[in-house]
Amino acid sequence: MEVLRSKNALCAYIERNREMGKKIGFAPTMGALHEGHLSLYEAARKENDLVISSIFVNPTQFNNSADLQKYPRTVEADIKLLESTGNIDAVYIPKEQDIYPNGLKSEKYDFDGLENEMEGKFRPGHFDGVGTVVEELFRQVQPDNAYFGEKDYQQLAIIKKMVEKKNLPVKIHGVPTLREDSGLARSSRNERLTPEQRKTAKIIHETLTQVNDWFRVVSIPEIKDRVNKIFEKTSGIVLEYFIIADEETLKETDFFYKDRNYRAFIAAFAGEVRLIDNKHLD
Ligand code: PAJ
Repeated sequence: MEVLRSKNALCAYIERNREMGKKIGFAPTMGALHEGHLSLYEAARKENDLVISSIFVNPTQFNNSADLQKYPRTVEADIKLLESTGNIDAVYIPKEQDIYPNGLKSEKYDFDGLENEMEGKFRPGHFDGVGTVVEELFRQVQPDNAYFGEKDYQQLAIIKKMVEKKNLPVKIHGVPTLREDSGLARSSRNERLTPEQRKTAKIIHETLTQVNDWFRVVSIPEIKDRVNKIFEKTSGIVLEYFIIADEETLKETDFFYKDRNYRAFIAAFAGEVRLIDNKHLD
């Protein structure tokens, strides 16, 4: 596995492989890698000649400086993990100047309103930061295919929208959420949970599963009421939002229309750790 620690090293590597006509699959990350990330590489392995990942904790997508500071940085352990999977051809670990040569600033994006829902409401500027870093990484890595987790469903939808609107020559693939045995979605942030909080946090996925049982049977206001009550009576976890949204527009709905697809979304705090999860309703 090649460890590419600068834009120059990456460019030389990409040029070499492009000349040989290699098909490139790419999965960007912020490191603190876990099995959820590894499932992206597995998906990429099946459809590409080369699998490339990147590790870059992107400052412009954090609207909270404490969250940025506390984000786990475990690059050397990440490299070891990637090497041990034998599934990755190269990892790109850019320096800040490689991504932001003109200083730490985000582009402004119009994602047709997708950016104003959920995470966009609670984390202002977040998706401009995500768009900026992902677009720049796409330009540098030049992947044929790129892989994003459904765990961050709104991010996946926004990247698809960016590629469509900017006509970028890359196909975006969504990968199902990988979970711990308890059902808790794997996340780099789980490392910050105490054992007690980790147990409590499984309520997020349990609730989403429960909501699926109520889908098209119970009214949405009643479902919301029940979800609020579940969180109110569970100590150690605080619900930030629960919504049921149209899977395509991500707009919250108060009613299940016949021909639309829906997904339930939760954001919650276990102590200071903010966790998100979602589930397709069927
Ligand atoms: P990060 O949180 O490191 O996640 C990198 C990728 O791994 C994202 O596509 C995310 O959805 C996926 N992922 C995380 N947990 C997962 C799980 N349990 N199952 C499946 N996939 C999972 O998302 C980011 O980084 C950043 O916003 C980034 C896209 C790299 C831009 O900075």
